[in-house]
Amino acid sequence: MRIFDSKTEPCAGIGTKKGKILAEFNVGLTAFYFYGDLMDPMLTIAVRAARAAGDLIVRYVDRIDTLTISPKGRNDFVSEVDRQAEQEIVGILRKAYPDHAFLAEEGGRHGLPKGEFTWIIDPLDGTTNFLHGFPQFAVSIALLYRGNIECGVVYDPMRQELFTAKRGGGAMLNDRRVRVTKQKVFTGALLGTGFPFKDQRHNDAYFGMFRDLMKDTAGIRRAGSAALDLAWVACGRMDGFWEIGLMPWDIAAGVLLVLEAGGIVTDFEGGTKYLETGNVLTANPKLHVLMEDAIRPHLTEALRYKTPLADKAAEGG
Ligand code: IPD
Ligand code: CA
Ligand code: CA
Repeated sequence: MRIFDSKTEPCAGIGTKKGKILAEFNVGLTAFYFYGDLMDPMLTIAVRAARAAGDLIVRYVDRIDTLTISPKGRNDFVSEVDRQAEQEIVGILRKAYPDHAFLAEEGGRHGLPKGEFTWIIDPLDGTTNFLHGFPQFAVSIALLYRGNIECGVVYDPMRQELFTAKRGGGAMLNDRRVRVTKQKVFTGALLGTGFPFKDQRHNDAYFGMFRDLMKDTAGIRRAGSAALDLAWVACGRMDGFWEIGLMPWDIAAGVLLVLEAGGIVTDFEGGTKYLETGNVLTANPKLHVLMEDAIRPHLTEALRYKTPLADKAAEGG
């Protein structure tokens, strides 16, 4: 199957509609053309997978004490629910798209290494919350194609809130279109954050940022699921969010939600290397400038150039 980039490639072919064919499938000598948005069916499958995983997670909520929990690293735990939820998601996606690649929290990278489509999956974002019966966790699934996040789904199974986004197609909460807030100043702003609890090297830098951002804002929340933090910025429940050292599966879907809701997402240096550095700063365009100014003075060398995936590889993890 060949996918056209409709922005850069003029697509010719039998039955071309307005010069736009988005995909060409070759079966033997016959070519079939796909009109319209190829991402719609992919988003639909991702939603099906997220709901299936969410249902599975909810079934365990009343029997957390029976679960086998293993440590993965400092303050980092995994349960059989994380693993089963991931198997459920990968099973559904792989059945629909056998030639796609996967980057999943528990199973790592698998599938066709050169596949142009990669699903980035966090089966249970907010494991610590889940294990304590603290009802703030979500399933996060994103689709990466040629370096762009094309689709994102964040599903909160406790509230049955489904956040979806498609590149260029806006962000939705269930069947309602959502936008970031218009909050322009720190006074009255509600921010979200995550603590860098796994890597305490960043404590001083982080607490400097926290102190400066706390001074003038209405409050700072640490809810414990980065995927939901981003989804909540997208739908206007929080005005901005920042966190150090996240992994691609924590944020890929949420980043697209915020972008499609009209927000700005950057790394701490104002660039777009958030998936690589794991450092995320997001808000509406006006507030983002203020947050960036508050964070910049606290940046250390380690925060600028270290990436969590590189760190893990160096640790042999
Ligand atoms: C965690 C959550 C949390 C963030 C951690 C993540 P997990 O994901 O997103 O909010 O602060 O850094 O690891 O481990 O529960 O999937
Ligand atoms: Ca996570
Ligand atoms: Ca997880």
